Amino acid sequence: MALRTAPRVRSDAVPLRAFRSKGRPSAIAGVGTYAPDRVMTNADLAKIVETSDEWIVERTGIRRRHLAEPGTTTFELATRAAREALQNAEVSAEELDLIVVATSSPDGPFPSVACRVQNELGVPGACAFDVLAACTGFVYGLSLADAFIASGRADTVLVIGAEVLSRMLDWQDRATSIIFGDGAGAAVVRAARRGAGFRAWCLGSDGRGYDKVTAGDIPRGAYAAHQAQPLIAQKGPDVFKFATDIFIRQAYAVADAAGAAIEDIDLFVPHQANRRIIEAAARRVGLPMERVQVNLDEYGNTSTASIPLALGDALKSNRIKSGDQVLLAGFGSGLTWGACLLEWE
Ligand code: UT7
Repeated sequence: MALRTAPRVRSDAVPLRAFRSKGRPSAIAGVGTYAPDRVMTNADLAKIVETSDEWIVERTGIRRRHLAEPGTTTFELATRAAREALQNAEVSAEELDLIVVATSSPDGPFPSVACRVQNELGVPGACAFDVLAACTGFVYGLSLADAFIASGRADTVLVIGAEVLSRMLDWQDRATSIIFGDGAGAAVVRAARRGAGFRAWCLGSDGRGYDKVTAGDIPRGAYAAHQAQPLIAQKGPDVFKFATDIFIRQAYAVADAAGAAIEDIDLFVPHQANRRIIEAAARRVGLPMERVQVNLDEYGNTSTASIPLALGDALKSNRIKSGDQVLLAGFGSGLTWGACLLEWE
């Protein structure tokens, strides 16, 4: 039976912080997405690592993932999604005050991907920087956009999640190579026109879980001659438990902060990590799957790009209309988490 009241929290569970948006309201004015053309199916994967289409579909829900051609950069994918978001928002790049790129696979330690995107868009002047919060990064980026707009530091913000994770995978490691894909998604955030937009946030991290999902270390020797390729590793079952729990608790926390009920949520757009995680969370909070956006069968887990890619697909298939209450929620390495409830303009 559907659970409609907040679940009891274990005494060792990390406390969640949820906030109602204050100040000038902001809203998403347009979304853009991009996925590379090259597709790798589960059957393709089974040729290079010991796995099967049946196992991957049953345990994760993933059927395919899109992979960038070798040599493709994260900023290239980010820029494609950004251009589409600007077009859909009917905003020119010159209007941007802030560009935030969330990524787990930057093209290098610096300069930021955001500065490379800014250069591609040809709009010097706006503030541009990256956010590192792994798969939660896009929600953290949106929260920065909301805060900058609320406080009057910006009127128009571009938030991007972009990844070329394929270059950070050990293709022989079936715990990770079957999961991840490449892609990008972007949103233009502006001052809300009619008081709708972001209503509440739940953001947090628990560094005690720093070793649950990792991507190598930069060599510590001052003269490290051979820099090892950073490869993604994870403790899958631990992350699975954390993810399900945090989705459920965030949903209640953010709804509560907004003064809304779970029943009011028209569409839940979760981080696309594993279909079983999403289904378990939706079941526990009492949201029917018709109100949950899932597209990981097509893209796998694209980290920071997964929420905007799912949001973009929901918009393309007319699943969101003006006035809808939309819940975005993510979790990721760090450990980190973030959710927001917004009323669509
Ligand atoms: O963005 C955040 C990042 N990460 C996540 O969200 C990951 C969350 N976790 C997961 O999605 C799941 O834990 C996985 C998909 C990674 C793994 O699924 P699982 O159901 O937790 O499998 P498991 O690791 O507990 O392994 C179960 C069995 C093992 O065999 P035995 O010991 O029972 O004989 C594994 O060796 O499945 C085996 N196995 C596989 N078999 C075929 C593990 N991976 C594979 C595979 N293909 N790819």
